[in-house]
Amino acid sequence: MLVLGIESSCDETAAAIVSDKKEILSSVVLTQSEHKNFGGVVPEIAARAHLDHIDEIIEEAFIKAKINYSDIDAIAVAAGPGLIGGVTVGVMAGKALALALDKPFIAVNHLEGHALTARLNSDVSYPYLLLLTSGGHCQILIVKGVGNFERLGTTIDDAAGEAFDKVAKMLGLGYPGGPLIEKMAELGNENRFVLPKPLYNSPDCNLSFSGLKTAVRKIIESYSNDGSIEHAILPKQDIADICASFQKAATECLLHKLKKATQIFKQNNPDGKHIVVAGGVAANTYLRSKLEQLAKSENLIFAAPPIKFCTDNGVMIAWAGVERAQKGLFNELDFKPRPRWPLDETAPKAAGAGGVKA
Ligand code: KG4
Ligand code: ZN
Repeated sequence: MLVLGIESSCDETAAAIVSDKKEILSSVVLTQSEHKNFGGVVPEIAARAHLDHIDEIIEEAFIKAKINYSDIDAIAVAAGPGLIGGVTVGVMAGKALALALDKPFIAVNHLEGHALTARLNSDVSYPYLLLLTSGGHCQILIVKGVGNFERLGTTIDDAAGEAFDKVAKMLGLGYPGGPLIEKMAELGNENRFVLPKPLYNSPDCNLSFSGLKTAVRKIIESYSNDGSIEHAILPKQDIADICASFQKAATECLLHKLKKATQIFKQNNPDGKHIVVAGGVAANTYLRSKLEQLAKSENLIFAAPPIKFCTDNGVMIAWAGVERAQKGLFNELDFKPRPRWPLDETAPKAAGAGGVKA
């Protein structure tokens, strides 16, 4: 079985073709450069850029896979959550192809795409404990199957990736902030600045990054004559030290709550073997190595998608499409793109999440 995956929910226009034998026949990702000067993604610009490029990206995915359009068995599209203009572009392209080729259409939840990707490259079986950390979301979940998620914790304010992006913007590093902060942090002293770890001592598995971001802002402001962040002048070494200290604090918050979640996971899922990390922030090698240590100390196996498939891509949507197709979970062509779409509404029988095509 071959599935085409289409992704356009944020600032990546992407398409990929993946088989049920876990072969990646092609993966094409265009990261929009239009947002660089804005320190974040501008929704209207993103939607127009998706519209400009989606046809050629899909075509390239078929050319690279060396197959014809008619060889595909199903078309999977990220139908939310995300920036609705971009999501709509991808969904309309997918529906048009499904109609023209008379192939089934699968509306994939973008977060489910992230959540299942590690199963494509590693031997990860259900149930597993998942840290899903991206630019828009930060959650700790038990993944029990397709459309079957138990959420143990979530951020109550910013997502971790959002905090990386905002700190990078304050330091004038650019966008997206995560990779830039990680690079600078390699040159820095992570113990130079002691930063707060919001919600660290709360008994639940929830997270918070807003206070951490504000603490970094105050440090940067202290380098300015008039206390404004715009006039702050920081030596390169101090920028590196702030990046390293921030990365350490953010990682410790994630790790601490994941460790808590591990106890719940083990207690209720004695057959569970894996700790998985996914989403854009999962590309962070510092975080990955700490998670690997945590998994080891908990007698669990650490798994993560390859770094290039942590940030948004078509492969993760195609793979979630494969898993859905294997269960006969297809959607009608009147499926409405969803700007908000919680993972617990992806269950096969949930209203609005599509049903089983006869
Ligand atoms: O999953 P993703 O591509 O898009 C969303 O679904 O949000 O994640 C993008 C986020 C951005 O906030 C970006 O700064 C962050 O992932 N990110 C990283 C790294 N690479 C990307 N954060 C920390 N370290 C990285 N190496
Ligand atoms: Zn994403």
